[in-house]
Amino acid sequence: MEEIISLCKRRGFVYPGSEIYGGVAGLYDFGPYGVELLNNIKQAWWRANVQLKENYVGLDSAMFKDPKVWVASGHVGGFADPLAECKKCHARVRADKELEKIGVQADEKMTEQELSALFDANKDKIKCPTCGSTNWAEIKKFNLLVQSNLGDFTGKNEEPVYLPGEACQGIYLNYKNIIDTMRVKVPFGVAQIGKAFRNEISPRNFLFRCREFEQADTQYFVKPRENKDAYEKIKQERLDWYVNMGIDKKNLRLRQHENVVFYANDAWDIEYNYPSYGFDELEGIHDRTDYDLTQHMQHSGADLNYTDSQTGEKYLPWILETSVGLGRMFLAFLCDAYSVEETKNGEKRTVLKLSSELAPIKCAVFPLLKNKPELVDRAREVYSGLSQSFMCEFDDNGNIGKRYRRQDEIGTPNCIVIDFQTLEDDTVTVRNRDTTEQERVKISDLVQYVQK
Ligand code: GAP
Repeated sequence: MEEIISLCKRRGFVYPGSEIYGGVAGLYDFGPYGVELLNNIKQAWWRANVQLKENYVGLDSAMFKDPKVWVASGHVGGFADPLAECKKCHARVRADKELEKIGVQADEKMTEQELSALFDANKDKIKCPTCGSTNWAEIKKFNLLVQSNLGDFTGKNEEPVYLPGEACQGIYLNYKNIIDTMRVKVPFGVAQIGKAFRNEISPRNFLFRCREFEQADTQYFVKPRENKDAYEKIKQERLDWYVNMGIDKKNLRLRQHENVVFYANDAWDIEYNYPSYGFDELEGIHDRTDYDLTQHMQHSGADLNYTDSQTGEKYLPWILETSVGLGRMFLAFLCDAYSVEETKNGEKRTVLKLSSELAPIKCAVFPLLKNKPELVDRAREVYSGLSQSFMCEFDDNGNIGKRYRRQDEIGTPNCIVIDFQTLEDDTVTVRNRDTTEQERVKISDLVQYVQK
């Protein structure tokens, strides 16, 4: 993982947030290659979840919402992690995670007192990760919602507004609009990619647990009690998608939650085998029943019932959710693609074996020599032409071997070299990232070749 984090920084994928001010824990910025990879992941996800599904539609809802939304959703009252503070060095940690480290499982639904008692009973075995002390203050529940002051021009507003704790709430708020304006019928799905913010007590493991992140969500509305088959299908589809996108099957698994989160009736994770910390959550798949629509109907007073146009039956649909952090997908795709190989002449090469669909740059174009204007001009022409169709990079710096290595490290599938033969017959060499084999291709066939 250290190698991957270092590559991310060194090659412009991910930078620590506010780095020149010393950095802020749990915040990251995506650099030039990072934003390309991120956008490609979003596009691939959208294609699979909206474009290729006849009964799914997309949405992009506002981040700020009426504060009552977060009361209704249960986040103001129940979206909290148990916080333990070391009395000696004042380090703050999640009590449930520290208990987990010594093999004790805390239940999601435990009260503050119950958790405190469990933590107290095990106190002597729980060492502060910062100073090693076992002297802990009493456990407190710490709410994860991030507050803001939108529209509070007087500074006297008693009711805070919140940044989204989860992106999906916008889908529940617009579920009626979508039914009324689109030709959707239950069962149907709504997909959205949106930002989420959480005051995580201890952000950790790079992009794995951040304070600001993006979630790609689908909410599938089904007839009450007709959830079982659809739930199985959704879990399998999501797992298969990662494999189709190039993740090794053996690094993925489905795991059912023993303690379900407050809004769910049944919860599963797709887990990925992250280097250094092993299998952990990648995506959450939740059977939310009619919890959310019931809550919003009660708190808003709006009738959110669905009427079956054929039978006249009225009901509140149940919801099956898939929700994955873009950062976690980004990390999983990077980890799975990362490899260090030995070349024929005994050198090491680092290669990101990303699928061509996800690779930030699809083609790199090189003139064989920098000091031959006829090669450079022809290479620039090829570069401009290909850029109309693909994200490309022009590079004339250093020897060809070094240029190949630079592209291997960022996962570029095609390196195209303009050499002296090009000037005679309008062909170029295309080097394949994974095999390192080269093929001569006519310039007029390049777009089709790369597309394939
Ligand atoms: N709407 C359901 C929901 O938010 P969740 O399990 O809390 O459920 C869903 O989050 C997904 O969002 C997780 O599986 C993970 O991929 C991502 N996620 C959650 N918290 C995160 C954090 N602090 N940093 C990065 N990603 C996070």
